[in-house]
Amino acid sequence: MSKQRVSRRQFLNYTLTGVGGFMAAGMLMPMVRFAVDPVLEGKAKGEFHPTKQKVDELSKTPTRVDFSYEQVDAWYVSEVTQTAWVYKDDKGKVVALSPVCKHLGCTVNWEGNDNKNKFFCPCHNGLYEKNGKNIPGTPPTKPLDVYPTKVKDGFLQIGKSKPNNIV
Ligand code: FES
Repeated sequence: MSKQRVSRRQFLNYTLTGVGGFMAAGMLMPMVRFAVDPVLEGKAKGEFHPTKQKVDELSKTPTRVDFSYEQVDAWYVSEVTQTAWVYKDDKGKVVALSPVCKHLGCTVNWEGNDNKNKFFCPCHNGLYEKNGKNIPGTPPTKPLDVYPTKVKDGFLQIGKSKPNNIV
């Protein structure tokens, strides 16, 4: 059996083609992503995710509702789990708040650390009113984000969170 020898020229060709291809892929991928992302985002925007929470069973006391969905990021699909604090306001309207503290992103708890009728963030003692408004004098400077909600067959559905416009 004869050994095939690789000439210096062939070796350089292979190497340069390989390195060039690798660099081209590195430059093209962000461009493809840039082109594709808005399409994916557009699809995700109007999306509501089902939950196991019956709307009839919601009360005026915030209750924790977890929900999961598949997130498609270009070619990568992952399962995302999120949480909302959900209650009915005095008019019976469903309110769903993000649990993510607007200071440094810890998770807030309803009436944590004995703070009656408030959301409490244990990281730096942040406080929010029941409607999500941050309490002055505590670290958070913005209200908790809100989720749009929908009801389908008696069950709560939750959309993408957005800034809370409470003054
Ligand atoms: S992260 Fe919530 S108070 Fe700092």
